[in-house]
Amino acid sequence: MKIAFFSSKAYDKQSFTERNQELGSNHQLTFFDTGLSEQSVALAAGHDAVCVFVNDKVDATILRQLHNTGVNLVLLRCAGFNNVDLATAEQLDITVARVPAYSPHAVAELTLALLLSLNRKIHRAFNRVREGNFALDGLMGFDIHGKTVGLLGAGKIGQRFAHIMQAMGCRVLITDPYADPAELAAFELVELQTLLRESHIISLHCPLTPDTHHIINRDTLSKMRDGVTLINTSRGPMIDTKAVIEALKSGKIGSLGLDVYEEESDLFFTDLSNQVIQDDTFMRLLTFPNVLITGHQGFFTKEALSNIAETTLLNASAVEGKGGELHRVTSQKVV
Ligand code: NAI
Repeated sequence: MKIAFFSSKAYDKQSFTERNQELGSNHQLTFFDTGLSEQSVALAAGHDAVCVFVNDKVDATILRQLHNTGVNLVLLRCAGFNNVDLATAEQLDITVARVPAYSPHAVAELTLALLLSLNRKIHRAFNRVREGNFALDGLMGFDIHGKTVGLLGAGKIGQRFAHIMQAMGCRVLITDPYADPAELAAFELVELQTLLRESHIISLHCPLTPDTHHIINRDTLSKMRDGVTLINTSRGPMIDTKAVIEALKSGKIGSLGLDVYEEESDLFFTDLSNQVIQDDTFMRLLTFPNVLITGHQGFFTKEALSNIAETTLLNASAVEGKGGELHRVTSQKVV
């Protein structure tokens, strides 16, 4: 199969090329640095499939253009599929496949890294020590042991993080309307209001859907403990960033850790260090000493990249009828 990769980086080329050889898949891979958009979609001509990442635009217009160029498969090299218009894909008979699980450990461990760094101010201590400033003022944290941690969503990543937090001696509360209570018997399944009221630390692990869009907003923030630690490694639009900035200014939020951001598609995965960043909301976030932002690197471990490449290539092989399981996403069913 001829596959056109969009938004591809050197590490994508390496992991996909290696896995393609190891699996003997013989897919023909073409890598484009540019993201998939109305300007770049013509590059897909002559290919059977496109392979895209989290911020590539796969809306109705793009899907129609892909269809016209003969592409009938969209391979998402990620778990989330909120950037694809699934209904239009079905109308056009375009198959959409994803990588449902590649390493829940990778994202859960980055969530822990953000939490520990923020709590013990590692990001500030690092700079201070390099400048010969060994004063401790402003670096005080709290024992995570004994605290209540609330998780919004406890699928693969949330459950991994829940176990880590439990191992650190925390009480773990979970709000997940679709969870199987039997799977979460080790934790407390609670209503959102209880989670907001009781948690010292809140971490988001659900998908971006109309229900979870801006689930962290002025109202839900007002119900949280003063000085709450909030971590989002899920999807940016689950947080109303302007409301969060107000909550940082008032002290309602004590620490904020983000691996994702509402408007990240204009920023992340690119070196903008020689440019003036135009997003004033993002730049305001960077001014807070108690905010730590990483650029969507939760998935970025060796193991995860290798698994992503393998599942994606096998999705393509499955569509060709050459074996492998197809992890298909439709508006009705997600496998
Ligand atoms: P999953 O599908 O295994 O689990 C998601 C859980 O959220 C499910 O248990 C579901 O019932 C629950 N959920 C759905 N709607 C909810 C709601 N309204 N309130 C509370 N819970 C709700 O997904 P997984 O693999 O655990 O991933 C979670 C999210 O993490 C993904 O949707 C993706 O957005 C994000 N992610 C981020 C990465 C990164 O690099 N930062 C990498 C991979 C995933």
